[in-house]
Amino acid sequence: MGYADFYRRSIEDRDAFWAEQAKLVDWETPPATICDASRPPFYRWFAGGRTNLCHNAVDRHLAQRADQAALIYVSTETGQEKVYTFRELHAEVQRMAAVLATLGVGRGDRVLVYMPMIPEAVFAMLACARLGAIHSVVFGGFASVSLASRIEDATPKVVVSADAGSRGGKVVPYKPLLDESIRLSQHKPGAVLLVDRKLAPMEKVAGRDHDWATLADRHQRTQVPCAWLDATDISYTLYTSGTTGRPKGVQRDVGGYAVALAASMKHIFLGKPGETYFSTSDIGWVVGHSYIVYGPLIAGMATILYEGLPIRPDAGIWWNLVEKYKVASMFSAPTAVRVLKKQDPAFLKKHDLSSLKALFLAGEPLDEPTARWISDGLGVPIIDNYWQTESGWPILTVANGIEKKASKFGSPGVPMYGFDVRLVHESTGEELTGAGQKGVVVLEGPTPPGFMQTVWRDDERFVQTYWSSIPGRQVYSTFDWGIRDEDGYFYILGRTDDVINVAGHRLGTREIEESISGHPNIAEVAVVGVADPLKGQVAMAFAVVKDASALVDDKARLKLEGEVMKVVDDTLGAVARPARVRFVTVLPKTRSGKLLRRAIQAVCEGRDPGDLTTIEDPAALQQIKDLVAS
Ligand code: PRX
Repeated sequence: MGYADFYRRSIEDRDAFWAEQAKLVDWETPPATICDASRPPFYRWFAGGRTNLCHNAVDRHLAQRADQAALIYVSTETGQEKVYTFRELHAEVQRMAAVLATLGVGRGDRVLVYMPMIPEAVFAMLACARLGAIHSVVFGGFASVSLASRIEDATPKVVVSADAGSRGGKVVPYKPLLDESIRLSQHKPGAVLLVDRKLAPMEKVAGRDHDWATLADRHQRTQVPCAWLDATDISYTLYTSGTTGRPKGVQRDVGGYAVALAASMKHIFLGKPGETYFSTSDIGWVVGHSYIVYGPLIAGMATILYEGLPIRPDAGIWWNLVEKYKVASMFSAPTAVRVLKKQDPAFLKKHDLSSLKALFLAGEPLDEPTARWISDGLGVPIIDNYWQTESGWPILTVANGIEKKASKFGSPGVPMYGFDVRLVHESTGEELTGAGQKGVVVLEGPTPPGFMQTVWRDDERFVQTYWSSIPGRQVYSTFDWGIRDEDGYFYILGRTDDVINVAGHRLGTREIEESISGHPNIAEVAVVGVADPLKGQVAMAFAVVKDASALVDDKARLKLEGEVMKVVDDTLGAVARPARVRFVTVLPKTRSGKLLRRAIQAVCEGRDPGDLTTIEDPAALQQIKDLVAS
């Protein structure tokens, strides 16, 4: 069957299509219904079915591949390297599950995971899946305020964390940040489970903090069976940024997610049992959830968990791993490739990369020079794929597992099976069907398996944020601009909202503004994303101070800029730090007081700011223009 037919069936004969895909995973009880679309936009997949993600990722493989590699841990930060077979992974996950259970974790309880890229982080995620607990992984690069808001929203019974992470050889203590975030949060977790890597000293809070190694020791052989869960139960929440300063808990199910991942591993990622998969993302992001942890393991593949930078000890480290572990499929982000591109190209030639079938890139637009460079260097297909935390798996790409289809530079590809992708006019909602017309990329319901169920504990926000932004029709907005060419290939042209994408990391400009406003001398601030050749975008801040005497000369300005950056580092984390903080006397706003972020962004990028008839004070934009030019 060609891809066009495969796709058409997924939309027109939805239930039959997904019933077939559902056979890719194990069910304790097979589903009674395939898609329950009776209450849009809350679509329920595989209702009546009972399964478990951990069973499908681990236990299921014991019969055939117990002694094959499952988790390959490599840290160029600490020099550790360890391979866990499926049998060993099974034992480790049970130990973690036993420990979590003794801390009171059961079905439906939340466990927040704030961890560096170490095996225990994966054990914790899988242990939650095993017990039917809901994990909420928070990226280790986030700091206390980001973490506190997530603890408060997820209300976890237990937090799993570690003494420290490490980045570029520099130890990053986690424990003080965690303590501070628990202090800031209204909700106090009952227990904190700590992995002591002996990288940084930890002060334990008596009665609350527990040492992983000590508790794990008591459960060397404890068996913890997988809890059979309803397909529509919640597997996890993962926070992501949007237009407001408050992150949204993207909530996902169990059965739909298992099927979506199993299908994507087969049709898109060309994953075969026994092969090795290497995704360079972090478990704190959706790519890490879907394609470091669950996807490859569900497919019976070994997955590499890499802690370290792509250029340390040298720019050949990833290719070294590809050779050593015979990586078949690799997944990364364009930013990482741009970083490698600045290094000696000889690193690409030093290793035997013959095992590699394809490199998948996602998270931000893939520019043509980057795509060409890596394509020439590796000699394998480079497969751009477009998706979101909300979707869980690719919305647009090419499904080479169904039919070999040429990629086009600059385009992630065509709609994936199950995704009814449309382009609509931003303000009229009119559907744009012609080639080359620019519109908002939206999805017509039902959204496919694996797609977010709702916003955690906030159905109203789910409907209001995602399904109500286009006038006259209930469609899911991706908040991305796009166009489609005459062959049906889509091109993504950036966000329609205040979300920015820095080095593949999705950040909300409002969150950064709120953080900067925490500095005692900042009266007002606007943060915009500005195009950057290496990181895709960087955050730029323009601030008005309360007391201008702090800006007497350049030295004073730089000092204040440094202070503001430190506030962001300490509250949100260095990932959110703006590239520059510039000071102005007034911000460009409309007469009704709305910040003109898009005009600021245009000026920063040397583009025409567009229609300015509503601007209150044109001199405000001129100040920014002058600063950018200086
Ligand atoms: O703007 C799009 C951009 O990243 C956003 C989603 O980010 P996140 O939730 O972190 O999920 C990343 C999952 C890969 C999208 O709304 N984006 C993602 N992939 C691409 C992309 N933009 C262009 N091309 C892509 N391939």
